[in-house]
Amino acid sequence: MEFSQLISSRYSVRAYKPVPVEEEKLQRVLEAARLAPTASNRQPFKLIVIPTAGREEELRKIYNKEWFVQAPYVICACAMPDEAWVRQGDQENYFMVDIGIVFDHLILAATELGLGTCWIAAFDHQAAREVLELSPEYVPVVFTPLGYPDKPPHDKRRKPLEVLVEHLDKQSTAQGE
Ligand SMILES: Cc1cc2nc3c(=O)[nH]c(=O)nc-3n(C[C@H](O)[C@H](O)[C@H](O)COP(=O)(O)O)c2cc1C
Repeated sequence: MEFSQLISSRYSVRAYKPVPVEEEKLQRVLEAARLAPTASNRQPFKLIVIPTAGREEELRKIYNKEWFVQAPYVICACAMPDEAWVRQGDQENYFMVDIGIVFDHLILAATELGLGTCWIAAFDHQAAREVLELSPEYVPVVFTPLGYPDKPPHDKRRKPLEVLVEHLDKQSTAQGE
């Protein structure tokens, strides 16, 4: 799939077919996440792959939507902030950026393979810690189901480029230098 087609065909899938995901596809999705860049190459993350079958009740404590437990897998990206790169000066920890890139790699790889995903940040943080038995160094940042979509894509509602992009005037930039 062309990259431009890939990014336009990804959408938040909120209905999944009750069919398995091939092991090879799961591995390819995880490999895409592994290859993601992270600040200073610290790789301060852990991906937790949760087979859904038999865990529906526990998973609903984390995010209480029916479609969250429809797919064969739920994946959680956890950050390890103590291992992440911190910028000198303002001490900004970049773990959220790292996790965003890792997860986007995972999600776009899934899209290429015909699999559906949905970023989920509005989960119950405490329930996630308890259900996944996370030790204190792990911070659960985002979840997604992983499975075959059961609903077609919806239209993308996005702000126009004129609103989202600002082009610095070349002349004034040059003058400012
Ligand atoms: C960081 C992040 C967190 C999100 N959290 C949720 C969530 O908790 N629940 C949900 O249904 N969708 C969630 N979404 C999905 C967004 O609502 C969705 O990406 C956006 O509306 C654009 O739609 P699209 O993904 O179909 O293009 C999240 C997306 C991002 C990027």
